[in-house]
Amino acid sequence: MELMDGTRLLANRCKRRNFLLGAGFLTGLTIASQWHPVLASSRFSGYPFSLGVASGDPLPDGVVIWTRLAPNPLSGGGMPLVNVPVRWQVALDENMKRVVRRGTVLATPELAHSVHVDVRGLNPDRWYWYQFQVGKEVSPIGRTRTAPASYSYTQQLNFAFVSCQDWQNGYYTAYRHLAEENLDLVVHLGDYIYEYGPQSGGPRQHNSPEIITLKDYRDRHALYKTDPNLQAAHAAFPWIVTWDDHEVDNNYANLIPEDNQTQEAFRKRRANAYQAYYEHMPLRQSSLPKGPDTLLYRRLTFGNLAEFNVLDTRQYRTNQPCDDGLKPRCPQAFDTNATMTGSEQEQWLRKGLDQSRSRWNVIAQQTMLAEYNFNSSPGVGVFNVDQWDGYVAARNRLLSFLNQRQPSNPVVITGDIHSSWVHNLKLDFNNPNSPTVGTEFVGTSITSDFPTSFIAPSQAALINNPHTKFFDGAYRGYVRCNLTPKRWQSDYRVVSSIVDMNASVKTLASFVVQNGQPGAHLN
Ligand SMILES: [Fe+2]
Repeated sequence: MELMDGTRLLANRCKRRNFLLGAGFLTGLTIASQWHPVLASSRFSGYPFSLGVASGDPLPDGVVIWTRLAPNPLSGGGMPLVNVPVRWQVALDENMKRVVRRGTVLATPELAHSVHVDVRGLNPDRWYWYQFQVGKEVSPIGRTRTAPASYSYTQQLNFAFVSCQDWQNGYYTAYRHLAEENLDLVVHLGDYIYEYGPQSGGPRQHNSPEIITLKDYRDRHALYKTDPNLQAAHAAFPWIVTWDDHEVDNNYANLIPEDNQTQEAFRKRRANAYQAYYEHMPLRQSSLPKGPDTLLYRRLTFGNLAEFNVLDTRQYRTNQPCDDGLKPRCPQAFDTNATMTGSEQEQWLRKGLDQSRSRWNVIAQQTMLAEYNFNSSPGVGVFNVDQWDGYVAARNRLLSFLNQRQPSNPVVITGDIHSSWVHNLKLDFNNPNSPTVGTEFVGTSITSDFPTSFIAPSQAALINNPHTKFFDGAYRGYVRCNLTPKRWQSDYRVVSSIVDMNASVKTLASFVVQNGQPGAHLN
């Protein structure tokens, strides 16, 4: 139980006498790096839990709890190059009195002194609280929740999904409000960090140039994680996270970067970015990167009510057609070999949907699946070819599959575009009489910009996209979802401002999907 993350990197060479940290709490077997000694004193240059705590990927019997020791978070973390034993405990109460699981894990320099504990042996469908300790320093207490027992009757699930939190563009007031919601879970759909250098015009700025090295990516994640509202949202609920492009580089596809980097240089950059992502997220060891590769797509089930298919549409995708951007489609946009997911993930998704016993089958992914013609006039359509509109054959395969195999209530949740949308997913978007095979809810950003000049043209183009039931580009926020066996409700929760830390929150619009009837209706 106490053998946690990074065992691949670690060897069991540690002697108990090396620990000076409350030996009574240490529970037998402990692991140490073969390359580094264990910390001989527990004095730090600052508070080691400056990045807060988090939990994620809940199972019926367990959850991952996370922290990272970083007394100097904005410049390398500030930890000595030694292994540091970190104690953890999980309790039934918020005062950490009724402890049900505890252990010690080593924070190692190889993983930037991050800690991922895959706590098991918990009971399904209940709240737990957790805390870390190193020396005399204790972390904030986090709250988390296990998933309902496999295929058990589950009456309700409340979750919110979020994406796109450009630090420079605004404050995380949306997270302050999200942390106060009644939720079981948060799903993050990508653009957790942005890779850019400092840009003026927003209320705060990145503190370093465009990020390339492992240290760069670590420091950028740490900068974001210092935000108290983001920390509060992590401490309140378990999260399921996936990435989009900005965790590495704008609009990258597989090993093709945005700018002129060699493939070898970009391979190294992607490895750096993926490693720093793992180090800062509450992920299982199955998502530990292997060089430039990381297995991030995965499936999480909540009783018989909902199953989340969490996709990775960046790591395996083919290059964007027609040189990217917003434009009429070139022939490559219809290439049958073009892929968002890669064929392995595509097969995995189909198989999972086919075998699912859940009422709601969620596809949690990055860019808009529905077609959207941004041209408001008749004639040649204009499409965002970084979205599934640039991968038409791959989309058609998925939509045809939904039509033929009819998995129960497919609902796609999407980020990336920094604006709010609701789409009915049509088998053929050019034929309004074609069957609706699913529903897509696209959430706005936490802070990232949707240029105001795009709002009116996007709005005007609704006339050419009758399957699109809602669009808003003015507001930032998150989408709160309430699921029961009978209906799915999505509330578009938006903040009044991203430059005012005291901004209020309201529901901009609310849409419902009824069980067995694909497509959304205004509530
Ligand atoms: Fe974004």
